[in-house]
Amino acid sequence: MRATTPNKSDKSKNLSESSRRTRPPKPFGASTGATSAAKARPKGAAATEPLESGEMVRLNKFISMCGAASRRKADELIEQGEVIVNGKVITELGFKVHRETDEVMVSGKPLREPRRKLYILLHKPKDAITTTQDDQSRRTVIDLLGIDGRVYPVGRLDRNTTGVLLLTNDGDLATRLMHPSYGVEKEYIAALDKKFTRADLPKLTGGMRLKDTGEKVSECAAEILGDGLSVWLKIHEGKNRQVHRMFWSLGYDVKKLERVRYAGLTVGNLRRGEWRRLLPDEIRQLYKQVRLEPEF
Ligand code: URA
Repeated sequence: MRATTPNKSDKSKNLSESSRRTRPPKPFGASTGATSAAKARPKGAAATEPLESGEMVRLNKFISMCGAASRRKADELIEQGEVIVNGKVITELGFKVHRETDEVMVSGKPLREPRRKLYILLHKPKDAITTTQDDQSRRTVIDLLGIDGRVYPVGRLDRNTTGVLLLTNDGDLATRLMHPSYGVEKEYIAALDKKFTRADLPKLTGGMRLKDTGEKVSECAAEILGDGLSVWLKIHEGKNRQVHRMFWSLGYDVKKLERVRYAGLTVGNLRRGEWRRLLPDEIRQLYKQVRLEPEF
């Protein structure tokens, strides 16, 4: 079973918010090894699919995508000779344009298609940093996508943290997802240097103070997994290295950290290093969580 699969044998007895939570996945070491380093190579279309560009679209559709007119109105404008493509009046209704390279003018005004929004879910592997560029030439999450800085990571994961990472060029959505006031849920499994003591559970979940800075973190949910060396944790904020610092404040070292869920999304069948586009429903769900109206 994959590390993101709920662990049916762990009962809810240690939960601090059992009614709302999802079951925690299995602890580290419980997966089949499908995510092991040897198999962690991007494979298949999901990881390598180029983001399509240069598509041909019908002229009336292009005009409406640019917000200049509805498709029906666009047809009227085309028939009236109001539409020019690459300097030539086009009156043919089925005419197609190349959405990136053709110059389209309607009633004398040039059209520009709004930049297409991209929403990507990456199964972040170890040894990849969550920035768009690195001056020390370390591998970035953008290198893994191979799409050259057109999207930005939504928040940060430490270099060696694995799991769900969203990337997008939708600034409004990203800003809200990262803002603590929207309380977006993040679930982690932390593998620790020693067994987690049950008596420490209320300290971890009750809204603790971080020992290094004295900052207070919000209440959260947690459950000790399997042999006690791993803990599942659900938090609603994203302070710098928060999970490491929470455990460290209680005397534990985090040896491995995996984000198993972010805003309801898991890596599913993606192997480490693989990515996929989000489905329209998944994007709508994200919008809903941060109280934004989808534009599609
Ligand atoms: N908390 C951490 O300590 N590290 C991460 O990468 C994410 C959350």
